[in-house]
Amino acid sequence: MFVAVLLLLVTLSVQGGNGEEKAEAQRPGHVSVVIVGATGDLAKRYLWQGFFEQYVNQVSGGNTFSFYGGGLSPASTATPVFFDIVKAVSCSKETSPDRCAVLKEQFLRLAEYRQLKALEDYQELAKNIEKELQQEGIPEAGRLFYLSVPAFAYADIADKINNSCRPASGAWLRVVLEKPFGHDFRSAQLLASQLGSSLKDEEMFRIDHYLGKQVVAKILPFRVENKKYLDPIWNKHHIERVEIVLKETLDVKGRIPFYDQYGVIRDVMQNHLTEVMTLLTMRLPVNMSSTEEVLQNKLQIFSNLLPIGKNQAVTGQYQAYKTSVQQEMNKTKDHVSLTPTFAAVLAHIDEAQYEGVPIILISGKMLDERVGYARILFKNNVFCLQNHNSVHCKPKQIVFHFGHGQLKYPAILVSKNLFKPVLKEGQWKEVTEHTDVDVLGLPISDYYVQTPSENREAYSELISQIFAGRKNSFISAENLLASWGLWTPLLTSLAGSFPRIYPGGADNGDMLDLRVKGKDISYSSEVVIIGVDQMSGTSAKDSQVMQGKFRSAAMVSAWSEELVERLAADIQASAEAAVREGGVFHLALSGGSSPLALFHRLALHHFSFPWRDTHVWMVDERCVPPTELESNFHSLHDHLLQHVRIPYFNIHPMPVQLNQRLCVEEDAGALLYEKEVRKLVNGSSFHFVLLGVGYDGHTASLFPDSKVSELGDRLVALTESPVKPHQRMSLTFSAINQARTVALLVMGKGKHELITQLSRMKDNPDKWPVTGVKPDDGKLVWYIDYDALLG
Ligand code: BG6
Repeated sequence: MFVAVLLLLVTLSVQGGNGEEKAEAQRPGHVSVVIVGATGDLAKRYLWQGFFEQYVNQVSGGNTFSFYGGGLSPASTATPVFFDIVKAVSCSKETSPDRCAVLKEQFLRLAEYRQLKALEDYQELAKNIEKELQQEGIPEAGRLFYLSVPAFAYADIADKINNSCRPASGAWLRVVLEKPFGHDFRSAQLLASQLGSSLKDEEMFRIDHYLGKQVVAKILPFRVENKKYLDPIWNKHHIERVEIVLKETLDVKGRIPFYDQYGVIRDVMQNHLTEVMTLLTMRLPVNMSSTEEVLQNKLQIFSNLLPIGKNQAVTGQYQAYKTSVQQEMNKTKDHVSLTPTFAAVLAHIDEAQYEGVPIILISGKMLDERVGYARILFKNNVFCLQNHNSVHCKPKQIVFHFGHGQLKYPAILVSKNLFKPVLKEGQWKEVTEHTDVDVLGLPISDYYVQTPSENREAYSELISQIFAGRKNSFISAENLLASWGLWTPLLTSLAGSFPRIYPGGADNGDMLDLRVKGKDISYSSEVVIIGVDQMSGTSAKDSQVMQGKFRSAAMVSAWSEELVERLAADIQASAEAAVREGGVFHLALSGGSSPLALFHRLALHHFSFPWRDTHVWMVDERCVPPTELESNFHSLHDHLLQHVRIPYFNIHPMPVQLNQRLCVEEDAGALLYEKEVRKLVNGSSFHFVLLGVGYDGHTASLFPDSKVSELGDRLVALTESPVKPHQRMSLTFSAINQARTVALLVMGKGKHELITQLSRMKDNPDKWPVTGVKPDDGKLVWYIDYDALLG
């Protein structure tokens, strides 16, 4: 199959050391493409076509190719299916039928199906590649693995690739991954660290196919090309609002077991719509081809986005979803899924440029039409008394129209009362002949319209960038975690809330219309309950807060939203009492994802919290610089401190970085923190300590088997975690157990098993550190949500 169809592939190299993508010739040679999951839906619909196009584009060059389709099924059964898929690729309109037949014939001869299941299969594959390279005597250019498989298989496959399929030095390895990249912040972080142990960052290409859409890819260049018009108006004084919308008419039948775990926010908002939002709002990079600068500017937006809480989102679910879930997941008739198939979310960027500008992200299944766009609606300060049709009375807007809709093609539309956009000859052209159509309230003739000269599929575009080793259109780990950092607290706070049920299609009428008021978003019409039985299967425990006992201590339980509300109220009550009594409140907070929803609640709803008299301390910290996303202080800063009026000198980060190094015993950081506690906190007794519990029973950064009970009277210590980053600084039991109130917050179904075990377990702090939390004179309260308590 190793036919010497020699193609010279002059491509752009992988990024240079400074993160800049440099155009330079890449070593020509043999490229092996391996699609793992070769007969799956995505491969069938887009990937083989994309690789075929790439092959055709390079046909006059000088590389050789082989294409392997990999899958779990044995070759005997999968090969015919595989060839049916590969045979279905098509040529562009410009290619003559004869030439197309030759190209397809060559492509088919270069393709082969192989079972890729066990490590030996990957070793065999590598041997095969090496044998062919030797036989043909051609140098190797690189190996491209496209993992079109469920995400749970990534870490294992990446490990196998790392162990057996790395090319010899000089040739590149690129591994392409499809979303979902995790389910929330923590799982994304875990996946990133698992993948990071097998693959280097520059070897991973995380796909978000929206970045391959021509209009999305043009957002930044458009902003740069039209800078002179946009600079004066791209700000809060001129922008009324930004809408980023992906409406779909289809349902999710056939994908429910996947979809039901994700829902619309994880499926398209955390990735596609968020990416569009950052492209629209990020500072323009000085050097557009600098991967590093583009990334930093994107991250800046994430750190300036205000937290998104429950009042910044509404959710819906199409009516027939429930029955599909019951059927596809074998559930009984009273099963109720709360997974949203529609959501509208209101975001705000806390930057002078965009202060107060509503950014609305909307997406849903079974809506009235299929269309995707981002619309920047500008304020119009012209008052028209008579001729309302004259151009200056009409809406002023720019529409990045990704595709479909009434317009049917991708385009950028600028209303004529704004400016005539620059058109760089080449890949884009102006459309002047229109069929009669309205786009977002304006007839098409009221716009300047630009469209790509040639329409390209997003996947084909991204595949050619992978070949070229260009990383700007892919999602880096930092970008991914920043996005999950934004969405995870909202997802947590929405767990347990009922989406509005909508009938689907045109029947939705105005049910999903929205109202934006200040920083909140809601449906504009009153609640309409369709199918009252939707509420069955719920019980009295809904929306109630339950009090009880857990491990002989007080327990408060509720759905996560109410639980967080209650905990926030309890902290405020404790703060007010302490300030009344002694003029000051000492609060020690843990890191991790569980407290994020609490931080948001405090930031967004507790305007009368006595922050001026509050000192914020840290329960524990990871030994990383505070600029890292992994830093607990970083997260505390982003999710709480920057949103409240607390004096700087009342904030006490743990000194993990001293003398330009991290957590070195001789630098005595722990002792320093301990001294600060002894000096400022009356009797070293915090008023309120917030803790969480890990799956292994750790609390603060006190881990099993680390002899935590041997820390004696020390208040602060350096400790070791079994997971990265290993080094930690933590309050000890001495410090924790002197507190007046200790709250242990446990949320999510994932913690149910742990809660069950803890309910039966005797105290054994060495094995289960959380069982060592026993305030001497203070009280301990467990805050456990229903998911964790009841599973
Ligand atoms: C995918 C989602 O990522 O994007 C799908 O998983 C969604 O649910 C699709 O339908 C939308 O993409 P496009 O390109 O059709 O707008």
